[in-house]
Parts: sequence; structure tokens; C-alpha cells
Amino acid sequence: MANAVLLGVQWGDEGKGKVVDLLTERADAVVRFQGGHNAGHTLVIDGVKTVLHLIPSGAMRKGIECLIGNGVVVDLEHLVREMDALKERDIDIAERLMISPGCPLILPCHVVLDRVRDKARGKAAIGTTGRGIGPCYEDKVARRGLRVADLLNANVFAGKLEQLMEYHNFMIANYYHSDPVDYQDTLEAMLQVREAVLPMIGDVSARLDSLCQSGKSVIFEGAQGMMLDIDHGTYPYVTSSNTVSAAASSGTGIGIAQVANVIGVIKAYTTRVGSGPFPTELMDHYGEHLASQGNEFGATTGRPRRCGWLDIVALRRAVQVCGIKALCMTKLDVLDGLDRIQLCVGYKFKGKQISLPPYGAESLEQCEPAYEEVPGWDASTAGIRDYAEIPEPAALYLNRVAELLERPITIISTGAGRDETIVLDHPLGAS
Ligand code: GDP
Ligand code: IMO
Ligand code: MG
Repeated sequence: MANAVLLGVQWGDEGKGKVVDLLTERADAVVRFQGGHNAGHTLVIDGVKTVLHLIPSGAMRKGIECLIGNGVVVDLEHLVREMDALKERDIDIAERLMISPGCPLILPCHVVLDRVRDKARGKAAIGTTGRGIGPCYEDKVARRGLRVADLLNANVFAGKLEQLMEYHNFMIANYYHSDPVDYQDTLEAMLQVREAVLPMIGDVSARLDSLCQSGKSVIFEGAQGMMLDIDHGTYPYVTSSNTVSAAASSGTGIGIAQVANVIGVIKAYTTRVGSGPFPTELMDHYGEHLASQGNEFGATTGRPRRCGWLDIVALRRAVQVCGIKALCMTKLDVLDGLDRIQLCVGYKFKGKQISLPPYGAESLEQCEPAYEEVPGWDASTAGIRDYAEIPEPAALYLNRVAELLERPITIISTGAGRDETIVLDHPLGAS
């Protein structure tokens, strides 16, 4: 059987969780490879909504292994809370959840640093999710961070924690003039959750290798989106991890040949939470239509999402960087009722027409979108599960996007529900 990498290729919230949950019908395991609980992945199954932040979106199907790769930053207290919330609904995943010993640990001092730092940026604030993601990845790269493996020896853990907190508390108190975080409180909280976590620590890299060797199918579940990638996104208004497809390999410990089947998940339009350039952002009644029909509020922070037309220029970069084989378009139904739709097919930058986005936020701020107009449609696409029922103008829209990006659209989502989907070509192959 095949593997598949499901990536968001805009600014996050493309509907990855819904699609991963659906496709997992033919998978054996789902693995997260980057990000942390800054993610909010919404699944709607039989009308019941579940938002997963750290636990892979295979959680809702019994028997599916859920793996957290070394590229994921883990807040243990959050993880245990998320597991407990699922358990209350009779979804016990402790037995089938494996966490890599290489995962960096998010500590309470990272959360404080994240918040005071973004506040100190004033008008230039990134608008992070305030979950400690950035400071935790910084510690990883600076080679001073704590990792899941450090939990194995409580005494060693306590010593390393004290050293790290001394370092961060100095900064919190003396540079940001904020209250330092209590070491004893942190240690106690960590040791309390340690017991629940220890049995789940396992060699994710070896497990994936064994699954692949025995012909099982694995879905690699991306978080955030390609335009939030630390290297290729709209820096500095990005997250602190690599969100591109290559991270599926480095963030789990599996060779690149196993992660070559890359599916890019795109919304039928564009949204963004937090600050940063957004060339196709709409401030008019079209933007209001997208926000209200799409119910565009962040699944993690509840913040309203900024909305705009589909940006083919940004998507061209994503297709190129991520080696996307096929596309999945979600939220087609949100475009229902629009009299006309615009597709951004180029940017005007420094007097020239360009077809790929420039690197960096300052340059992107200067880009003006060039649009191609396509007809809208009155008919409803909501809940359609058969491609033949798609109204002609909506089919034309899908075809035009596929043509511009030179990639087929093989999955179309027409509602939040698991089954409100048209799968023209299953990325894991025939059932
Ligand atoms: P993710 O982070 O990529 O998993 O996406 P989020 O869960 O943050 O945001 C996607 C939102 O759109 C959620 O509220 C989903 O329930 C909803 N959604 C997903 N697909 C569709 C769709 O095709 N149509 C509509 N109307 N809503 C959808
Ligand atoms: P999912 O997986 C949308 C955004 C934040 C902020 C920037 C940096 O649900 O698509 P961070 O806390 O990561 O340091 O914040 O990235 N961001 C997301 N936006 N969806 C997400 O995840 C996001 N995770 C982070 O809003 O602009
Ligand atoms: Mg989300």
C-alpha cells in the first residue's frame, strides 16, 4: 500500500484535519511531523465536532496508530488534557499513541516568553498562538532544550530544567520586566504528567520503517501551511517550523522515498490568522461573505480569520517547494451564491508582472494582485458527494485552478462533515 503526505499549502486552516480523518479509512497509521498544539484540526463526524491540536487526526478511528514524530514540539500538560478529553468520550488512544523521544518539550517558561516577546514587538507583533512554539524551537536549535527522552531519568530532568529555567527567567525578569516562572511548580507539574507519558515513548522512526516494510499505509499529517514555513513562508510572519513536505521525512525519521506522494490541501479561497502580508485580502462584502459563510474563526485561538481570494501565485511556490502531486480543494460550498469570483494569477511588483511570490514580508507587502475573473454560481454545492452534481460554473472553477497550477484536483470537500467529500482518486490507492 501507499503512503501520503497531507499538507496545508496556504496560511493554515485549509481543512487538513477533516481530510486526514476521512482518508484514514484506508490507512494504518497517522503521524504528525512538525508544529505543536498551535494547530487546530477540526473533524465533524456524524454531526459531532472534535478539535484536535496535538493528537494526529487518525484518533477517531479505532485501531489506527497515532504517532508524534521528533519534529513536533510537545506540551505534555496539554497532551494529557487532550487525551483526557477524548477519553471522556470513550476514545482511549493511550494504547495506540507513540511519542518520539526526540520531541522537544514546551515548558511554561516558553509560553511566557512567547507572549511577552510578541507583546514587546508592538505593531510588528506576529500574532502567535501564544503556545510557546517559537521559544521551544529556539531552544532546540540552540541545543539547550529538554526533550521527551529527558523524562526517562527524573533526576537528570530536574537538573536540566533548573539550568534552563534560570537562563530564561533571567531574560523574562530583566529584559521583559515580567514575573519569572517558578521552578518547583514547573518541576512538579512535569513529574505529574511524566507517569502518563512514559509508556507512550517509543522509536517512531523504527515503527514507521517497520510499517512501511510490511506494506502498511501511513498518512503524514502537516500542521499550519506552506506560507507559514520558517524558510519559505512570509518571514518573519511565520511559524517556527518547516511546514514543507521535506519536514515529513526529517520530522519523523523516515527516508524521503516514503514521503513522495504529496497532496496539497487548499481552501477554495484564502484565509490567514495573525499578522503579515496577504496580497489577496478582501475588506469588502466578498470578504464578509467568505468569513461568515466559511465561519472563519481560529480553531485554536478563536480569532477571526482574515479572508481573501485564492492566490495562485503563492500556490505556485507551494507546488514547487513541496513537490505536490495532486490537490485537495476544501470549502467549495463557501463560494456558493457569489456573483463573481476572482483568481489571483500574478503580482505586480516594482512595475513588473511576476508569477512567483518574492521572498520576505517587505517585498510581498509591495505586491499588488492581478486578477482573472471567473463566473460565480447560485446553485448549492453544500454536501455534494458526486462530481456529476457539481454545478457547471463550480466545475469550471475547479478546472481553471487545476490548469493554472498544472496539478489535478483529486479530492473536493463540500462541507465540514466527514462524508461531505468527493474523492476522485484516493491517495492511498484503491480499497
Ligand atoms: P485545519 O487546521 O487545516 O485542519 O483546518 P481547521 O479545522 O482549522 O479549519 C477548517 C474549518 O473548516 C473547520 O471548521 C472545518 O470544520 C471546516 N471545513 C472543512 N472542510 C469544509 C468544507 O468543505 N466546507 C465547509 N463549509 N467547512 C469545512
Ligand atoms: P493549523 O494546523 C493557522 C499562525 C499564527 C501566527 C503564526 C505564528 O490549524 O492550520 P505560532 O504560535 O506558530 O508561533 O504563530 O502562525 N499559526 C496558524 N495559523 N493555522 C494554524 O495551524 C496555525 N498555527 C500557527 O496565527 O500568525
Ligand atoms: Mg486549524
